Parts: sequence; structure tokens; C-alpha cells
Amino acid sequence: MNAGQPPHSTRRHVLDLDDFTPDEFEEVFSQTDAMAEILSRPIAQVPTLRGVAVVNAFYETSTRTRISFEQAAKALSANVINFTAQTSAVVKGESLVDTVRTLEALGCDIVVMRHAMSGAPYLVARHFHGPVLNAGDGQHAHPTQGLLDIYTMRRHLGQIQGLKVVIIGDIVHSRVARSNLWGLTKLGAHVILCGPPTLVGPAAYWQAVFPRVTVSYRLEEAIAGADVVMMLRLQKERQEGGLLPTLREYTRTFGMTMERLAKAAPHALVMHPGPMNEGVEIDSDVAVCAQSVIEEQVTNGVAIRMALLYMLAGQRAAV
Ligand code: CP
Repeated sequence: MNAGQPPHSTRRHVLDLDDFTPDEFEEVFSQTDAMAEILSRPIAQVPTLRGVAVVNAFYETSTRTRISFEQAAKALSANVINFTAQTSAVVKGESLVDTVRTLEALGCDIVVMRHAMSGAPYLVARHFHGPVLNAGDGQHAHPTQGLLDIYTMRRHLGQIQGLKVVIIGDIVHSRVARSNLWGLTKLGAHVILCGPPTLVGPAAYWQAVFPRVTVSYRLEEAIAGADVVMMLRLQKERQEGGLLPTLREYTRTFGMTMERLAKAAPHALVMHPGPMNEGVEIDSDVAVCAQSVIEEQVTNGVAIRMALLYMLAGQRAAV
């Protein structure tokens, strides 16, 4: 067997984690374990997706997600086509739907899409015959990031049920936070959202969708006894938009230091989806401390994306 057991999932797209069942998470994580084993081999490549054309359509910048999707597709021997808006007919005014029709006419089998507009991958999924994977859309969703984050927690801490996971920072504008919220709450974690009120919003806003979620505007209170401490990138635009007095003020109140981290459980994992602003939301020594799994998150992203490409490719014949 070159990859995991043949997938049972009948899923066609991965657009967010809101429609995943607990069994489906388990199936993805089991396939990911098998893919991680492949990646540990001296020659980390199998012929599973030979002849399958995967297009990485990135309309917004990316380092981790784009490269790991490319690594994942190549490890499965797929043909990889990298597409950026800046170097395509998009700059001549071609619409997203026209681009999708063009990719289809060129024989592309699977589309991986990042787009600054929330919902763009959903539009693509309506017009493309094959599977679509959302690699991050606006402020809406980043499902493969959510999966790799939860997989990393599971590897270190066992079951997700009952874990106390604190997500700190600009929650309101974060697609990573939203996808993690779907996945973590479906698997039974207690999630605490922490940051300044302007970047977290009111508790009622989140609890209308995620009843088990708690909101805290006090970092020390939020991280007490936490199993996972996840910082989010703070974007400079938030200060320019009047949501923060200064970045220095944010760092003083919500920046993660070793002293603050000591209030979490001794086994607590330090996580960050990247890219990091070291010295703003996380101190450099926290980013590389023994509890940090930030680099492992990136590594696990390749196996997660291999698992998803494998599982979705199995659905191509059914579409
Ligand atoms: N975590 C994440 O999405 O990083 P990139 O923007 O580098 O892909």
C-alpha cells in the first residue's frame, strides 16, 4: 500500500470545516499518519496521483500554504501547475469564472485556491467539474490550516475532547481562527478567544454559532491552565484602521512572553499559523522554546494536504 487505506469519504471539496463530521476528521488524520510515513522515507514519493493535474491558483501571497500544497502534490506524483493572478490573464480583466473554465479546458483535475475575497473558492466550486480546496479566502476560512493545527495538537496531546485551547489576537479578521473554531468545537475542545475587544468582538457574536466558546479580554486570565496557546499575526492595518492605539500597547497587553506562558499548563503547546511578527504578538524566545510546535505545524501541513489531495482525487470519477 503506497498511501493510507482507500478513503471512505464521499467529500468532493474542502471549502471549510463547518461540514466535517468527527468521523471525517478521524479519517483525514488517519490518512495523514500514512502520508507522514511516506514523507519519512529516503525517497518521499509515491505514484498515487500520477497523471492527475493539480493547479495551485493563488490570488494572494503565501509561503507555507502554497509551497506545502506543491510539495504534497509532488510527493504523490501529481502534475503541479502554479498560477498567480499577477502573471495571468487576470491582469487583463479575465473573470474568476472565465479563468476556471480555462483551467478546465486545459485539463486541470483539482484546483487549490487562495483568494482575498471571502467566498471565492465557493464560486469556483460551482463552476469547476473537479475538487476544489480552499487555501484561504479573505477573512472567512482556512480549512487546511485548521486541520494541520488540530492534527498537531492531537499528535502531542492525544484526543481533542476536553482540551483548553486559547486563541489570542485579531480573531475578528482571522480565517485561521474561524476554521479552528469549527474543527475544535466539533471535536469537543473548549476554545477561549482572547484579545482586545476591538479585535475579538462580543461574546454573544461567537456564542451564537459556537455555544461552547468563551471570550476573554484579559490574557493572564485566559491562559491559566491552557493546553494550547495559539497566537495570531497582528496586521499593521489594524492600527491604521483605528482598532488599536499602537502595536507597542498591544504587545504590552497581549504579546506572549515566557513569563506569561508559565501561567499555561506545563505541557502547553505554543502554536502560530505564521507568518509571525516576532516582538509583536510573540517574543522570539517563545517562538523557539521547547513548548513551541510552530515549525512542526508547517511540516505537518504537507502530510495533511497529501491526505486531502488523495481523498478528493478518489472522488474525481464520481463528479
Ligand atoms: N499560515 C499561512 O496561511 O501562511 P501563508 O500565508 O504563508 O500560506
